[in-house]
Amino acid sequence: SWESGAGTIFSAETKDFKNYLPAKNIPAHSYANSRAQAVILGQKQTGTLHKVPYTVVDRLINAQQKAHYQHLRNSETTAGDELRFAGLKPVEVTLTTRPAASKKISELLVGAFFEDINYAADGGLYAELVQNRDFEYHPSDKKYRDESWNSTKAWRAGLGNLYIDTAAPIHKNNPHYAVLSYDTGNPALINKGFGGIAVTAGERYDCSAFIRIPSGKAGTVTWKLADKNGKIVGTAAMKVPAWKTWKKLSAVLTAAATVADAELILTAGQPGTIHLDMVSLFPQKTFKNRKNGLRADLAQALADMKPKFLRFPGGCVAHGDGIANIYRWKNTIGPLEARKPMRNLWNYHQTMGLGYYEYFQYCEDMGAEPLPVLAAGVPCQNSSTGGAGQQCGIPMEEMDEYVQDILDLVEWANGDAKTSKWAKMRAGAGHPEPFNLKYIGIGNEDLITDIFEERFTMIFNAIKKKYPEIQVVGTSGPFYEGTDYVEGWDIARKLGVDLIDEHYYVPPGWFIHNQDYYDKYDRNGSKVYLGEYASHLPGRPNNLETALSEALHLNNMERNGDIVAMTSYAPLFAKEGNTQWNPDMIYFTNTAVTLTPGYHVQRLYGNNAGDTYIPFEMTYSNNADGVIKRISASIVKNTKTNELFIRIVNMLPAAVTITLNSDMIPPGASVQKTVLTGAPDDRKIKPAESTVRAESNKQETLPPYSFTMWKVKLL
Ligand code: AHR
Repeated sequence: SWESGAGTIFSAETKDFKNYLPAKNIPAHSYANSRAQAVILGQKQTGTLHKVPYTVVDRLINAQQKAHYQHLRNSETTAGDELRFAGLKPVEVTLTTRPAASKKISELLVGAFFEDINYAADGGLYAELVQNRDFEYHPSDKKYRDESWNSTKAWRAGLGNLYIDTAAPIHKNNPHYAVLSYDTGNPALINKGFGGIAVTAGERYDCSAFIRIPSGKAGTVTWKLADKNGKIVGTAAMKVPAWKTWKKLSAVLTAAATVADAELILTAGQPGTIHLDMVSLFPQKTFKNRKNGLRADLAQALADMKPKFLRFPGGCVAHGDGIANIYRWKNTIGPLEARKPMRNLWNYHQTMGLGYYEYFQYCEDMGAEPLPVLAAGVPCQNSSTGGAGQQCGIPMEEMDEYVQDILDLVEWANGDAKTSKWAKMRAGAGHPEPFNLKYIGIGNEDLITDIFEERFTMIFNAIKKKYPEIQVVGTSGPFYEGTDYVEGWDIARKLGVDLIDEHYYVPPGWFIHNQDYYDKYDRNGSKVYLGEYASHLPGRPNNLETALSEALHLNNMERNGDIVAMTSYAPLFAKEGNTQWNPDMIYFTNTAVTLTPGYHVQRLYGNNAGDTYIPFEMTYSNNADGVIKRISASIVKNTKTNELFIRIVNMLPAAVTITLNSDMIPPGASVQKTVLTGAPDDRKIKPAESTVRAESNKQETLPPYSFTMWKVKLL
């Protein structure tokens, strides 16, 4: 029995903990709170007592023993290698290719996952330098736990008084603005950026703001950048016309020095009151020089990985913290001042400056397929707004409108700008040609309930009816097994969903001991999109050990590239000092980008993608299961560039000497070799490249804890 939030008590009976009789309302006095404590495997546990047949107990014991055994295997880390592999001699391996059994594999295997977590968007990839430019930060962004988090966050008055008003705003979606007043002098307003404003000597920055002088008199506003000693390193001036309504004004500022942590000072040229909103300082030098674009170094780091697709906007951000927080794409397009900012579920603020248009543009600029993921009409299963849990779904009477929103996205992305209302908007934003959207994700690792299934089915059927050519990606919960995984896959089979988004963050030991995970998958069912994965060690580092285990998994996924269609490591970006989640693939500050071992692995696979898998056989001088499982190989061919990629992971603490028997490799061919190696806990490794000559039966030595890739140009 259980107690509902309202205090009403229900009881449901079961004999096997699988099948339950319908719940019955029971009187409070008959409710037995049978909680008890027991020590199980040395751990104190609290639970409820039930009388069940012994067969149930037996099954529970078996399940527990299996889980314990798996836990021990999954806990294998290199920390125990000295003992585990004591006395291990270098292992000799021969690898013989069997090209006759080649098979086609996905050309989109390695992509990327973008979520606004860890300040990945505002203060990160989105190049805006002013924090809280719209004065829309709200205490609710941080669940009212930070008093300083409000419309004045990152702002202060330099001279005069600053307060926030909402009367006659620029747009209803952007209700707050700054009122600055000083009757006896010229008022000034200061913004400190996202932990300082970084500018580079000689570079140009677009200054813009909506400004109104309520007296109706003309005036001026001077923009200045000051370093931390107060030295001015850039200025620009704006004339404010004599009218009382909002007007967007612009100027260009050139930085006279390189400064990591400047402040922006806006000073009115006259005493009195002035209203300001959407105050922006934007580098002209963005990725591909796009207006309202992306921070060039960060965007380039991802582009260098050559992801074949880019997922957006998450992760949990996509389905939100409660129904009201579901990410709605329509709120993120159009003029910046009319976009609807929102609380970010990771407890900060989303301006939506990096919205759907900027996202699609970025995909196009990188040559990646867009993969937008939209909520399946249900919010995150960990929602906490108003109580924990999935909290039902969008009410059925609102579902038609929600489904239409999703159909409108396809129209916006792919429609004909001459005839379609949504496509006209895309064209108006600067992209008359369709974006050629092919994939849409519905749901993000949701709790697979009836509420989910009902809404997912509605959305899936509507998309397939109107746009049968769109590939829909369903979801199977946050783990590689369990109820959501089973139920999510069942729905996929029932409806014939094109791809299923799997998520799992697991220790290196899981990757080592589950190399056949996809070998067992049905070749005729839905394809797999491993949308979120990463190797997690205690302390959550991104180091050589985690990267090698991810490479090992990528090898296994290449072998299964006929059914594993897409993969993306998660999360992607993290700002130092603003990180909610570790490990991430790329860390950054306002001025630097740090590439992790995991990034190097993703980049090596992304840049050297194949479309055909070449099977092979391996023999070992040491056949111990624990040894063999630490050596993993994959060979793929790119038939368009006629290149062969041979990748070998050696996760052993000993060297591996490999003899490659393959008549695919022309003797004498120039081979590009890349090696990643070091100590397992090394976080700073970099790939070492060299050129070698192919020789038949040549032996190569793979260092302990290493990833080696040979790239061969075939004749
Ligand atoms: O990648 C970080 C988070 O992990 C995602 O938001 C969520 O989908 C998963 O639980």
